Parts: sequence; C-alpha cells; structure tokens
Amino acid sequence: MKDFLSLVESRYSCRSFQNKPIETALLEKVLEAARLAPSAVNAQPLKFIVVTQSPLKEKIVECYYRPWISTAPVLIIACGDHSQSWRRSDGKDHCDIDVAIAIDHITLAAADSGLATCWVCKFNAMQCAGVLKLPAHISPVAIIPIGYPADNPNDSERHSKRKPLNEIVSWNGFG
Ligand SMILES: Cc1cc2nc3c(=O)[nH]c(=O)nc-3n(C[C@H](O)[C@H](O)[C@H](O)COP(=O)(O)O)c2cc1C
Repeated sequence: MKDFLSLVESRYSCRSFQNKPIETALLEKVLEAARLAPSAVNAQPLKFIVVTQSPLKEKIVECYYRPWISTAPVLIIACGDHSQSWRRSDGKDHCDIDVAIAIDHITLAAADSGLATCWVCKFNAMQCAGVLKLPAHISPVAIIPIGYPADNPNDSERHSKRKPLNEIVSWNGFG
C-alpha cells in the first residue's frame, strides 16, 4: 500500500500492456473503488461495461484510431446514465462529472494494484454506443484500457511537464 501522493505520482497513461489476463478478484477490487465514488446528490449515474472477450473487444478497439489499445486485456467502457444524473437549477447535467470521478477512482485503484490504465476519450462515441446497443439515455464517456503494463515511464520527466502550483491555484480570489 503506497502513501496517497506516491500513488498519485505512480499513475500514468499506459499505452502498452503485457499479454496477461487480470485476475477477476483484482478487477472487482478496482471496480469497487468506482462504486464507492461520490456523485452529485448520490445519484450514481454510472454504468461500467467490462469487455474481455472476442469479438466484442475487437469491435470496441475499432472505435478508437490507435491500435495500441488492443494490447490491453480488458477494456472498461465508462458510461453515464443521463436519466439518473442530477441537473442543477440552471440545467447543468452533472453526469460526466460523476463518471469522471469514478473513472479516476479506477485509475488510482488500478495503480495501487500494480495495474495500469489510460483514459481514452478520442474515440467514436456513436460507433461505440452502436456496438454496445446502448439506449439513448446512456452515453459512453471514456474507454479505459486496463492491464499489466509493458512499458516503464519516466515519472520525473512526466511530472516536470505539469504546470507549477502557482499557475493553477490562486488564494483568496481569481488572479
Ligand atoms: C479526459 C481525458 C481524455 C484523454 N483521452 C486520451 C485519448 O483519447 N488517448 C490517449 O492516448 N490519451 C488520452 N488521455 C491521456 C492524457 O493524454 C494524459 O493523461 C496526459 O497526457 C498526462 O499524462 P499522464 O496521464 O501519463 O500523467 C486522456 C486523459 C484525460 C484525463
């Protein structure tokens, strides 16, 4: 078990995976972290479709333009249920925010378990919804490939590309 900041530092976008299945119990542990995520008014407008098998997996891979995604043994399609999500009085739908929080729980729980992930949003969402036969109120937010990593990222180089804290934080007012 890593301390929290070390865990956050160790998570990275993995784009190359070992040809090794994930134990079901480990995958369920990662998904449990998504289940426990907070959501607006606790609406939990979440649906995670876990894809491990052919030919469905290949059809999801075709929804993305980069072939590395096929190296992951598992693809989680994180979806939002717009019939359940909370809308603020100005109409703002909080569905994607809720799904994003749960996805982040997945990426961190995976990193804590020796697994790696990558957010993938640059996919053809209409094609993906068609492949999965999603009803109109369910939208795919991201594809999360997950597996044992086959690469070895340079953490300090990656972290050096982050903006400094004083560029993203201002105290006691905008500035
Ligand atoms: C909302 C979101 C969408 C992303 N979509 C993609 C994507 O479609 N393809 C991809 O290779 N990486 C994608 N990424 C990964 C980012 O490129 C990556 O998080 C960023 O470059 C920082 O690198 P790191 O995650 O290794 O720290 C996405 C990340 C986020 C948060």
